[in-house]
Amino acid sequence: MKIVVIQGPNLNMLGVREQQVYGPMRLEQIHAQMKEVATQNGLEIEFYQSNLEGEIVDRIQECYGDADGIIINPAAYTHTSIAIRDAISAVNLPTIEVHISNIYRREEFRQKSMTAAVCTSSVIGFGPFGYHLAMVGMMQIFSEINAMRQAQAAAAQGSEGA
Ligand code: DQA
Repeated sequence: MKIVVIQGPNLNMLGVREQQVYGPMRLEQIHAQMKEVATQNGLEIEFYQSNLEGEIVDRIQECYGDADGIIINPAAYTHTSIAIRDAISAVNLPTIEVHISNIYRREEFRQKSMTAAVCTSSVIGFGPFGYHLAMVGMMQIFSEINAMRQAQAAAAQGSEGA
């Protein structure tokens, strides 16, 4: 199964930007760790970062029919983007929203997420470790989907035999 990881604006500056908020880890290091977990668990994974809202919308749309789940940190667009919210809703895939910082302990404008309500779940405030938690969460979602598909297949076979 395939996960696409989508990173919003300024996350390419991790390790440089506001280290007191986001820590010293660079985005490539976070992705390398995620890749390792994916490989260990036989999952495909792709990474994408953009500073542009429309490009993020395009990348979400490309997941339709291609990916099985999305892990997304829409960054500042979390708080503003109806377009990204609509794209997540449109592709209707298991989607986990990640925030490195605890947005609910920060400025008021960060305390509202436009996107959380159309995501399956959110991981907030664990630092870069949140991406690992999102991977674990996505694997749990995948195993539930697989178990459901197997049960459906078994039920269909049972009814064929009857
Ligand atoms: C962020 C929180 C956002 O408010 C901010 O604009 C970011 C990063 C986070 O991961 O904590 O760029 O999404």
